[in-house]
Amino acid sequence: MKRAVFLFLTLLVLVQFIPVPRENPEELAPLQADSKLISILERSCYDCHSHRTKWPVYSYVFPFSYFVSNHVREGREELNFSEWEKLSADKKVKKADSILEAIEEGEMPLGSYTWIHRNALITEADIEILKDWISKLEEESEKESL
Ligand code: HEC
Repeated sequence: MKRAVFLFLTLLVLVQFIPVPRENPEELAPLQADSKLISILERSCYDCHSHRTKWPVYSYVFPFSYFVSNHVREGREELNFSEWEKLSADKKVKKADSILEAIEEGEMPLGSYTWIHRNALITEADIEILKDWISKLEEESEKESL
């Protein structure tokens, strides 16, 4: 029995050495927008959807490291505010619509995240600011297609 416990603890220590990517690459084309909008996204989305991830202490401890690292990798693949300005005006509108949809359907921010980061919850007032931003993006996209 003692031996089993010892083996288990040794294993737990060893798995901590499995390398988990936790990088914040340079921001090549960060989102440019009203500071109010940016602060909402920074508070609720940037940890998984930008290169400005604040890696929490538990992200250094297996198995949490594994989940956090995967969320960030998949999140950045779907939507990356550090590369937002590379998108065409038309693409921005489409992405911004899917952002609003994901929020209104309660898919985003992820529940496992808001469970710990209570201040990441999106309010009605935040949604109004998001909608204003989307209207501006739509205007810009129309101008471009003229
Ligand atoms: C804890 C990490 C995490 C946070 C925080 C987070 N996301 Fe995500 N997001 C993901 C992951 C992982 C995916 C890809 C897998 C999926 O779709 O569930 C994703 C996918 C998406 C997608 C594309 C798929 C879809 O459902 O349309 C959008 C849009 C999105 N997130 C928006 C947001 C917005 C907006 C916020 C902030 C309000 C946010 N996310 C916060 C992890 C996160």
